Amino acid sequence: MHILITGATNGIGLAAAEALAALGANLAIVGRSKTRTRIASARIRAAAVKGATLATFIADLSSQASVRRLAAEVLACFPKLDVLVNNAGAMYATRQLTKDGIELTWAVNHLAPFLLSKLLLHRLKQSAPARIITTASQAHQGAHIPFDDLNAERSYRGFGRYCETKLANILFTTELARRLDGTGVTKNCFHPGLVATGFNRNNGLLMNLGMTILRPVARSPEKGAKTLVWLATSPAVTNVSGVYFFDQEQTPPSPEAQDTESARRLWEISEWQCAVSRRNAEARS
Ligand SMILES: NC(=O)c1ccc[n+]([C@@H]2O[C@H](COP(=O)([O-])OP(=O)(O)OC[C@H]3O[C@@H](n4cnc5c(N)ncnc54)[C@H](OP(=O)(O)O)[C@@H]3O)[C@@H](O)[C@H]2O)c1
Repeated sequence: MHILITGATNGIGLAAAEALAALGANLAIVGRSKTRTRIASARIRAAAVKGATLATFIADLSSQASVRRLAAEVLACFPKLDVLVNNAGAMYATRQLTKDGIELTWAVNHLAPFLLSKLLLHRLKQSAPARIITTASQAHQGAHIPFDDLNAERSYRGFGRYCETKLANILFTTELARRLDGTGVTKNCFHPGLVATGFNRNNGLLMNLGMTILRPVARSPEKGAKTLVWLATSPAVTNVSGVYFFDQEQTPPSPEAQDTESARRLWEISEWQCAVSRRNAEARS
């Protein structure tokens, strides 16, 4: 089984990659740092059983050009792709813009999985039955997509912005699942629980201290990765699509996450954002 997983250098993604290697998967992991990717690879290889394979790709998912390069490399290397796992994600206490002029949290957590999934879709359809999985979060509860301030120029608050992107993960799941109906490719997402990882360790001393205080009540990355591994491999979900899971149970997300009109609107806006980024990148080069 050929599985591509982003954000596999740490936390939930790394634990999932180790578990999948122990099941004999043909894995491809995406990291943005060569050193961290090498260290993660050693851990994944140590967990692997005979027959498992591991390929590595380097990409900074905040850059649309880097996502496009990654997709081209994956398509060149893998004639078959059974599972795409969009797991990489982060929160940023202060508002930052990417090279593409997109607010960073939105670029990494939403637009990168949106674009990567679209660019790999044909290969996934050719490999059907195939699956796309996104690591979402219960943090989406209470969030709204700021359609009138998509780049968070007026409304940026670190955690609030993160919650919006996790809502976007669920809306993207339902809209893509609708569009994939009848293709043999499913699209699901899940909440991993509160997990002790590197998440929110990039936002200064106070946030770091907060995460350390939460550590005793947080799950291990192995436990946080369980639903991901199950969604990637279990026959129980072969024909299930467009669903939000928590601990291997279908769980209703917030009313905003069930709004099919928002899901359609988000899809169109995301396509437009990707197209503008591409045009701007071409004009720069
Ligand atoms: N931890 C939780 O309690 C929790 C709860 C709900 C949902 N989640 C979600 O779980 C997912 C995984 O997070 P985690 O908790 O495992 O955090 P983590 O330990 O910080 O891992 C995040 C992963 O994403 C990668 N990443 C971040 N920005 C990237 C970029 N620009 N380009 C490429 N890769 C990038 C990181 O790479 P580097 O090694 O290079 O940093 C790392 O491999 C995220 O989507 C997060 O929103 C986490």
